[in-house]
Amino acid sequence: MRLDRFLANLPACSHRQARLLLASGRASVNGQPVRDGTHDIRVFDRIELDGELLQAGKPARFYMLNKPAGCVSATADPAHPTVLDLLNEPDKAELHIAGRLDFNTTGLMILTNDGLWSRRLTQPESLLGKTYLVETEDPIDPICVERFAQGLYFGYENLTTRPAELQLLGSRQARLTLHEGRYHQVKRMFGHFRNKVTALHRERMGPLTLDPTLAPGQYRRLTPAEIDPI
Ligand code: URA
Repeated sequence: MRLDRFLANLPACSHRQARLLLASGRASVNGQPVRDGTHDIRVFDRIELDGELLQAGKPARFYMLNKPAGCVSATADPAHPTVLDLLNEPDKAELHIAGRLDFNTTGLMILTNDGLWSRRLTQPESLLGKTYLVETEDPIDPICVERFAQGLYFGYENLTTRPAELQLLGSRQARLTLHEGRYHQVKRMFGHFRNKVTALHRERMGPLTLDPTLAPGQYRRLTPAEIDPI
């Protein structure tokens, strides 16, 4: 919401009064006077008027989880445990998943209550890489390196995937970095070459790397150094 609308919603404050309050620099957001009525405010912001608290600002929360296999990337599921069941935190219903993983995919999963932040992390336009360790049923055809870099045509969406980097680690093991997140993308890319993905593990999302001290099912808060660059 815009700051001028927030102020005009206060009891006994008209739109005109809100404009005057702003012009005189009496309103502050997170300790800084703000005169611009179009300034966007969020539930996380602390808003004061003449030093009097109007909105305390909810804490923004960010967690990194090592997702185990056999767990659903959803907030509720009638049949299976969900990633939220692994979190021992209050107000879990406020959290959402930034970049889902399939039921049996393991590794880095981010949960947060900050939708703008998670959109920056996951939207394809940001071009942030997501890196996966992949194991396959059959040997990986080396031509995949070139073809993944060129992009593959996905008929269902009528699109060509963005250039992806495939590094062969063994005959059935590779590291793949994608710059988007299409539905079942890794499995479909290998499926294009009639090869089945037997294990998939996300190591990295943009600047965030899975903490190696987290065992499957464990989580921790992100540090400011991890949150701020996104
Ligand atoms: N690609 C997949 O196919 N599955 C995942 O869980 C993530 C990326």
